[in-house]
Parts: sequence; structure tokens; C-alpha cells
Amino acid sequence: MSAQRVPKSRILGTGHYVPEKVISNFDLEKTLETSDAWITERTGIRRRHVAADGEVTSDMAAHAARRALADAGLEVADIDMIIVATISGDSPMPATAAFVQQKLGAQNIPAFDVLAACAGFIFGITVADQFISTGTARHVLVIGSELMSSVLDWQDRGTCVLFGDGAGAVVLGPARGGDRGLLATRIFTDGTLASTLTIPAGGSTEPLTSDGLLRKRNKLKMMGKQVFRTAIKYLANSSLAVLEDAGLGIDQVDWIVAHQANLRILSQVADKLGVPMDKFIINIHDVGNTSSASIPIALDEAIRDGRIKPGQTILMSALGSGISWGAAVVRM
Ligand SMILES: CC(C)(COP(=O)(O)OP(=O)(O)OC[C@H]1O[C@@H](n2cnc3c(N)ncnc32)[C@H](O)[C@@H]1OP(=O)(O)O)[C@@H](O)C(=O)NCCC(=O)NCCS
Repeated sequence: MSAQRVPKSRILGTGHYVPEKVISNFDLEKTLETSDAWITERTGIRRRHVAADGEVTSDMAAHAARRALADAGLEVADIDMIIVATISGDSPMPATAAFVQQKLGAQNIPAFDVLAACAGFIFGITVADQFISTGTARHVLVIGSELMSSVLDWQDRGTCVLFGDGAGAVVLGPARGGDRGLLATRIFTDGTLASTLTIPAGGSTEPLTSDGLLRKRNKLKMMGKQVFRTAIKYLANSSLAVLEDAGLGIDQVDWIVAHQANLRILSQVADKLGVPMDKFIINIHDVGNTSSASIPIALDEAIRDGRIKPGQTILMSALGSGISWGAAVVRM
């Protein structure tokens, strides 16, 4: 699936939020058979932020959304739709987006979640772009928000060291001519790989029982090596495909904002794309893998610190459970 070359929607504002509390690799050494050296060398992660007691996914999403709205110079009343990408929402039902709507004080506009795990933000902006392109919506809030600490088994060193909590948001609005905006997006899912990264229990396949709770079947399970190999291949392929849709070469890209899952994945994607690592916006050392929040957090940080400037071309790509992945090209 591909989108248009002439942008119909544009990023009007960005915002992010990460909780204050930090867990360093050294903190994890105290409770797990792991080391700062292993985690840093194998992943690039040095610390991750975790939510305070009582802080929930929609709280973080609402903080990021308010910052994105302020950046766009818009009020809550200007928003026509709220899309939240999350796999660690407030509860199985209703959508976390409904709680975000309530917290923002927006009323009677559609608010729904998309579940494409770490690729959720790319799926979210792709959906928003369709509504804006047809004129059905003017301003859409797309938020990635994850309370990953709540879905981790803190005794599984193969997963718990990797993830962090946080939220990132963008406001998309009409491009109004010109070449600034979403130039192309591509989204994909390969359900034959669905079992490589799951939260097994809590649905109709495996209702959560007390035995399941004891066996932590409600926590994230991952075949790390397989996901690692798949990520390199598909992040590179989808990046090239979306650039072709946009009619651009990789040399015309100013920055790559890719999902921060593992620094070694990004370095191998860089090799495949034939670009130096300094083209990538990197914040994995500070936040870990924040799943659907990963790209909008990194994007907002780089815009606010002046690295990403108006008029520059940004390539985004992400992959996660599903396996779902995608890429987008945006002119800021
Ligand atoms: C999880 C991941 C970091 C593991 O790295 P790896 O180099 O593949 O490591 P392996 O799984 O081969 O494990 C190597 C050894 O390190 C050990 N190990 C795993 N986690 C460890 C940790 N936190 N600390 C110390 N040792 C660890 C393993 O048990 C294994 O030990 P063994 O050889 O005695 O069996 C890596 O596979 C990865 O990043 N996968 C993709 C993750 C991802 O992107 N997920 C989300 C997608 S959005």
C-alpha cells in the first residue's frame, strides 16, 4: 500500500513526555543476572524511564498531546480526531484514546486506538493522512504512548532490559499546497510471524487464569534473534520502497528517525541503505525501546534541539509485533 507524492497532510506540531523516574543498567545489575557492559554493547541502551505509581498510558499521552497542540498553536477544540498507537493501554476496553479525549477535554470526536506495536506510529499517521487527504478531518492528533514497564517480566533479562515508558505526539493538518508534508507512507504486516513477539494471555486464545498469571503469560515474550534479523531486512526494504514512492533518493534525506529498538539493528540498516550512522537521530541510550512512542519522542527531541529544521526531509521506519512494519517520508 502506498500514499501520494504530493503532500495532503503536514506535521503542524510535535510534543513528547517521558516520566521522571529512571532505571539505569546499573540498577538492573542489582536484581538481574546482567551487566551494564552487556546491555550497552548489545543494545546501546544505558537507561530507561518508567512511569510513577498510578501514572497510566493515557496520562503520558495527554501530556505529549498538550505539548504538540501548543507547538502547533492549536486548541483542543481544533482537533477532529484522536488516534492513539499503543500495546500497553489503560485497559483492554475502551480504547486508551477515549481516556485521552476525556483528559484533554475534547468532546464527541472520534478517538480510537491502532495496534501495530512498535510500528503503531507509522500506522497512525498513515490513517490520519487518509482522513485529512479526503477532507473528512482537518486536524488529527496522532499519539504513541506506552507503559511498557507494565507488560514486562522483570525477571526475563532477554526483554526487560530493552524497553522504557513514554509518549510522543504529532498534530497533522492540511498541507495547503507546497511541498511540505507527508510525501509517502508504506505499511505492512506478515501474520505468519505473529508468534515471534507476543503477550500470550488475556484474550480469547488464552484467557488469563491464576495459573497464567503465575507463569507470567500476560507479559511480553519475544524471540529476540528472529525479530532482530527481520527488523534489519524490513526496515531497510520499506525505507527504500517509500523513498521510491516519494520520488527521492536516500542522498536527499536529511535525517532518519527510525524505531529505537537496538543500536546494532540501526547500524546494520545504515549499512544496507549506504548511509553513515550520523544520519540517524539516536536517543536509545536514554529511553530504550518505547515501542509506538519511539519515533515521535525522537522526532520531537530533534526538532526542539534544532537538529531537524523546517524544509528538511525526514525518513521514518519502524517494525514491531505482528510482525508489522512501515516507513514514511516527511518534508518538515
Ligand atoms: C534481545 C537481543 C538484545 C539479544 O541480543 P543477542 O545478541 O541476540 O543475544 P542472544 O539472544 O543471542 O543471547 C546471547 C547470550 O546473552 C544472554 N543474554 C540475553 N539477555 C541478556 C542480558 N540482558 N544480560 C546478559 N546476558 C543476556 C543470553 O541468555 C545468551 O546467553 P547464552 O549464550 O548463555 O545462552 C537482540 O536479539 C535484539 O535486540 N532483538 C530484537 C529486539 C527488538 O528489536 N525487539 C522489539 C522489536 S520492536
